Amino acid sequence: MRKKIVAGNWKMNLTVNEAESLVKELNQKVKEGVKADQLIVFPSFTNIVSVVNSIDYSINVGAQNCHESKSGAYTGEVSVDMIQSTGATVILVGHSERRAYYGETNELLAKKVDAVLAADMQVVYCCGETLPEREANNHFRVIESQISEGLFHLDESGISEVVIAYEPVWAIGTGVTASSEQAQEVHAFIRSLIAKKYGNEIAEQISILYGGSCNPKNAEELFRQKDVDGGLIGGAALKANDFIQIANSY
Ligand code: PGA
Repeated sequence: MRKKIVAGNWKMNLTVNEAESLVKELNQKVKEGVKADQLIVFPSFTNIVSVVNSIDYSINVGAQNCHESKSGAYTGEVSVDMIQSTGATVILVGHSERRAYYGETNELLAKKVDAVLAADMQVVYCCGETLPEREANNHFRVIESQISEGLFHLDESGISEVVIAYEPVWAIGTGVTASSEQAQEVHAFIRSLIAKKYGNEIAEQISILYGGSCNPKNAEELFRQKDVDGGLIGGAALKANDFIQIANSY
């Protein structure tokens, strides 16, 4: 069975104190139990240590980005080893904001994926098309190159450690969600790409999350789709109530 995963991407939000308050609320709420198999939060680098040290053990903590090299003269960057040394266990790679604002290419992201897997950490690898790409009916081609160029150098054991997040850029932070049919169509397409490359058994094991204006109102309909295994949540992850409600939308 594929894992049902709900992950919160806190982006560039929350001071140390604000993050601690959110953690307190999350800790209260997870005690009541959640339906998702795995919960992950991605705080900013400056908050990872305090979140790791205060969050309920049932919630995994991750970083929103990492550098592809082990160490060295890369001012302002953070390595996988540094992230791992905080107790974080997951790293988000290739979020569309990183691709768009920081010029992260599939080629660079493939190296980041390798760095994360080499440390035995979990990768959540993001893909998704922009609005012009969808309007030009180019979205399948874009997603295919993001998936194949970023991930298909991995062997079977490597790909099995990867979680994929499909996040149409036009749905991120816009309040416009992909319809459940649109999400299912792309998720099934991604799974078919993996099946073609690695076989059905592996494709069936990989969790594919939907992201982009996912909220407590639409999560249930999205998570009901056959190939949607959970969500990568931005805005709604900053409210403990909403995040946990989404994690209970299965
Ligand atoms: P959103 O962001 O839920 O605020 O649309 C999702 C994301 O960027 O991961």
